[in-house]
Amino acid sequence: MSKYIINGPARLNGIFQPSGAKNAALKMIAASLLTKEKVILENCPDILDVRSLIDLIESLGAKTSFSNNVLEIDPSKVNKFRPDDKIAKKIRASIVLVGPLIARFNKAQIAHPGGCLIGNRPLDAHMEVFKQYGVKVESKKNSYNFSTLKLIGAKTFPCLSVTATENAIMTAVLASGISVVYAAAAEPEIKDLILMLRSMGAKIKGAGTHNVTIEGVKKLSGTRFRIIPDRIEIGTIVCAALATNSEITINDVREKDMGNFIYKLESLGAKFKIENSQLTVLKSKIISGKIDTRTYPGFSTDLQSPTAALLTQAHGKSRKFETLFENRFNFISELNKMGAKIKQINDFVIEISGPTNMTGAKIESSDLRAGAALVIAGLIAKGKTVINNIDIFERGYEKWENKLSNLGVEIIKEE
Ligand code: UD1
Repeated sequence: MSKYIINGPARLNGIFQPSGAKNAALKMIAASLLTKEKVILENCPDILDVRSLIDLIESLGAKTSFSNNVLEIDPSKVNKFRPDDKIAKKIRASIVLVGPLIARFNKAQIAHPGGCLIGNRPLDAHMEVFKQYGVKVESKKNSYNFSTLKLIGAKTFPCLSVTATENAIMTAVLASGISVVYAAAAEPEIKDLILMLRSMGAKIKGAGTHNVTIEGVKKLSGTRFRIIPDRIEIGTIVCAALATNSEITINDVREKDMGNFIYKLESLGAKFKIENSQLTVLKSKIISGKIDTRTYPGFSTDLQSPTAALLTQAHGKSRKFETLFENRFNFISELNKMGAKIKQINDFVIEISGPTNMTGAKIESSDLRAGAALVIAGLIAKGKTVINNIDIFERGYEKWENKLSNLGVEIIKEE
């Protein structure tokens, strides 16, 4: 287990380069199973979740090489339809291997997927999608088993679930006939996956909308594709800059991909300058407010905890309403140890009183996005903050000890 040691309070200064989007990369690695030709992903983030997905496709027979954020996948020798149980259980996104595996083998098996401890996280929408394609779904003690004689296009309803939408699309690209995904989630990473599939020869209309139409093709080719920047990482560093009253510039920001994040923060007093794809966070006085998480383009649940850390520095009482997951407030006790005043009203609502003076403490990260809140708290706090179990944060954030250190933060990582 690794830890970050941060000496605060920090003042950030300089230019931040975001990595490629985790939530696009993982699905694109899964999508490589849909072809027998080489897939090259540029701007692929070197994070633990990506490493886990690579291990999973290697356990199926794929060969990979990964350096300087370029991931090369040779899926020609994939000959298994059940990824390694141990790794599959570590990462919930392993469920996105199922659609491509069914498309390739007409069958798939997967150990019950794990992931962050942020609530119940049901998979019923995925199972419904597979059944709508005529796939037999069996829930066994240790795995889900899927089988079909032939995949035929269908209408599916993934109910705005991100990964279920991706499974619905990836299962359909090689099915015979037309499929329509109604109530598709429309996150930018899903649009990027569709663009990648199109570059492989898939026929898909409606990218970035709630109705996606797929005309099945017989075969997909390899591709070389560049992954979009990670909007969640961008949102996290924006919160870090605002929370420390810093001025920084962030490269590769696609404003339209940020949903309502920028406008919501502006309504709380944040000041930004956006020029081309560069976003400069200006020194701002943040006031309290209400934030409800929603599906895209609403306020991302993944940015809920980083903004909670920011709101500890806002003037007044703020309220957070988490509408997607029930255990996404795991950071409260750790931030309160440092002097924050955060009260949990119920499973979905918290109240934050600010501004509060924070002091360094020994804290522990319990899930990926909670980890982001703790890192921001460490930047705000006076003195030494030790964040144990930082590996869980590194599931989604690439080399932040280097990125923060480049912005002038006193931070070290200890293995
Ligand atoms: C994806 C993202 C995650 C993000 C989440 C919501 C990946 C790898 N992860 O997770 O970072 O926080 O979207 O934007 O892309 N639901 C069901 N039944 C299902 C599936 C989901 O009821 O079968 C519910 C969930 O409990 C939740 C909501 O739908 O309330 C959205 O979840 P979903 O979009 O599926 O999240 P993930 O795809 O797991």
